[in-house]
Amino acid sequence: MKKITFGSLIFILAFSLLLSACGTQSNSGAEGEKNGDNKTLRVVTDANYAPFESMDKGEVVGFDIDFVKAVAEEAGYAVKIESVGWDPVFAELQSKSADLGVSAITINDDRKKTYDFSVPYFLSTQKILVPENSDIKSAEDLKGKRVAVQNATTGQEAAEGLLGKNSKDIKKFDNNNLAIMEMTSGGADAVVADNTVIEEYAKNNPNQKLKVIEDDTFENEYYGLMFPKDSELKEKFDKAINEVFDNGTYSKIYEDHFKIEPEIDLLKEQQ
Ligand code: ARG
Repeated sequence: MKKITFGSLIFILAFSLLLSACGTQSNSGAEGEKNGDNKTLRVVTDANYAPFESMDKGEVVGFDIDFVKAVAEEAGYAVKIESVGWDPVFAELQSKSADLGVSAITINDDRKKTYDFSVPYFLSTQKILVPENSDIKSAEDLKGKRVAVQNATTGQEAAEGLLGKNSKDIKKFDNNNLAIMEMTSGGADAVVADNTVIEEYAKNNPNQKLKVIEDDTFENEYYGLMFPKDSELKEKFDKAINEVFDNGTYSKIYEDHFKIEPEIDLLKEQQ
């Protein structure tokens, strides 16, 4: 009697282990189906913009990447993230060959004509990167200097606001790292780009002897996830972003990357 009980106990244990393993699998499938349509979204970026997106051993990494993964998971979607370059991010979303863009993209009225944006997820502003011994001390000082920017960014717009739209002194590059290289190799006097990016660059490259200049005349900018116009994803992702704001996930990712707490209330005020 005892023997049989022991044997059947082992059998029941093994059998229930097997069941629970199957259970986990089918649950996660059902979960995906329940929340989203279980589709893997094609997410495009320009991974030349650390700490938001950069390449590490063939993989796209950064704050934006961790953020978009967390939000997509919350919304019930898997994502496949590909670095396609800055202009192609816009082209692919316009032609709908990608589902969403994450690329430290500033929400602005001009882009809103062609694309939909999520609620804001990051506060940014322009700053100026110059060699340590530069006499440039403010945005005003950029007039008459050669300014390198990434093409079709709000950095270019800011430079145009100061130097004039068709100024020959504005040098435009396909990505921000090329703009910085132009300055460090002497082809430009300054770079105008998003504060976090140039601060990170100056900090990580102390041997290049650079400094970052801030100027109150540069406006606040807010990053959003970008979708093709009328994408049904916008609503789902807005909901998921608010979810990760409220459940601590956003703060965790933010603190991992920036070592300070995010001002979530400030972002929410913009909704
Ligand atoms: N925030 C700026 C803009 O939207 C620059 C973004 C550049 N991002 C990038 N991954 N290269 O225009």
